[in-house]
Amino acid sequence: MLRAADLDHFVRALGRAVKEAVPPGGPEAALAARIFKALETPGRPPPAGVRPRRPTPADALDEAFALAARGPEPVQHVAGALRAMDPRLAWGPRPGSENGDPAFRKAHANAVIAGADGLERREDVRIGVSLVAPHTDYVKHRHPPEELYFVLAPGDWWREDLGWRARPAGSIQHNPPHAWHNMRTGETPLLAVWCLWTADA
Ligand SMILES: [Fe+2]
Repeated sequence: MLRAADLDHFVRALGRAVKEAVPPGGPEAALAARIFKALETPGRPPPAGVRPRRPTPADALDEAFALAARGPEPVQHVAGALRAMDPRLAWGPRPGSENGDPAFRKAHANAVIAGADGLERREDVRIGVSLVAPHTDYVKHRHPPEELYFVLAPGDWWREDLGWRARPAGSIQHNPPHAWHNMRTGETPLLAVWCLWTADA
């Protein structure tokens, strides 16, 4: 199967950016190599009738794209490719937030790009994007798959063994399997791509 041109462009830009950003020789580099090797083989198209959806904090997305456009070159490339694909994305609140704080539901959105419920269907890898509006604490969460975030618009990341750290545009947050982690914003929105290795999970 051929990959749609916009998605192909995004995957290539992301692969280059992530491989450049990870510290060489560490677990981040090993995970990035595994994920982007798998992505060389395209997945399946989604079933017909999957509708795009705009994120609730739509202004925050515009602001995040404007911030990313002033970031380092790899960030500009990834964000540009994401923006070109954005009209096709189905943004929505994180699963499980349905019955929680309504203000939080309106202050964040996620979209799945590749994965079991993504624009490209596959089970080995899950790639998506998270948008967090200003002055928002995301939710402490963890999952079996190992994860890399690539930051497009900066914010703070927390990991149980590292505490809170400011992550600038172009940086990586690595989460080992099952590690608790979180994100939060100050004055500006956060936008980040996450890459999960789901084949073993
Ligand atoms: Fe995560």
